[in-house]
Amino acid sequence: MKRGGNNAQKRRAGEAAADAVADGQVVGLGTGSTAAHAIRALGRAVDAGRDVEGIPTSYQSRELARKVGLPTTTLEEASPDLAIDGADQVVGSDLIKGGGAAHAREKLVDAAADRLLVVADETKLAEALSVPVPVEVLPDAREPVADGVRERGGEPTLRAAERKDGPVVTDNGNLVLDCEFGEIDDPAGLAADISALPGVLEHGLFVDMADAIYVGTDEGATVRES
Ligand code: 5RP
Repeated sequence: MKRGGNNAQKRRAGEAAADAVADGQVVGLGTGSTAAHAIRALGRAVDAGRDVEGIPTSYQSRELARKVGLPTTTLEEASPDLAIDGADQVVGSDLIKGGGAAHAREKLVDAAADRLLVVADETKLAEALSVPVPVEVLPDAREPVADGVRERGGEPTLRAAERKDGPVVTDNGNLVLDCEFGEIDDPAGLAADISALPGVLEHGLFVDMADAIYVGTDEGATVRES
């Protein structure tokens, strides 16, 4: 998927986070253009002799890992020491994710990791969470969940595919509602409300999940522990 933001900054963030991966570690591999820079850097590290395995969060990250020669494993076989993942918006240790509709597996892998390193360019940093929250729903649940979102003050839009007629279908065979709530004052409360709607597989609010934010800048990368 084509993404906005600053690609040079994304590359610096992704490469800096990949540098933090030690020999012998298992790494959750996020999805999106910033995480992809980390995956490429890890592929180069493996090529240079570092012993690292990745746990992909999507078809995209698995394919890229395979292409760059980064061995992969699963949550059944291993537990991630850390995960490196992108975000659509970052406020402290809270995130909105799901621009690539991979947030269900991303949350699973990111939560299983001992540490979550978020990689982002400067455009992702904000004072308050405000971009639409992606909500992955079972196909049959689309209308009931949309009603539930409206009752909580949100405006849901079914995510349309690009270069295919019809909706985006996730790696899990589900649909995505992008839910506009404006500025989100209580991310934890909203996260709990959305999770409680029957038919919701996962939403893109990652509340208090980030352990460190790697922000790519024009000069390099800064790291903020959170
Ligand atoms: C995918 C995600 C991505 O990490 C998020 O959309 C950021 O993408 P990018 O690094 O391409 O800007 O959550 O589901």
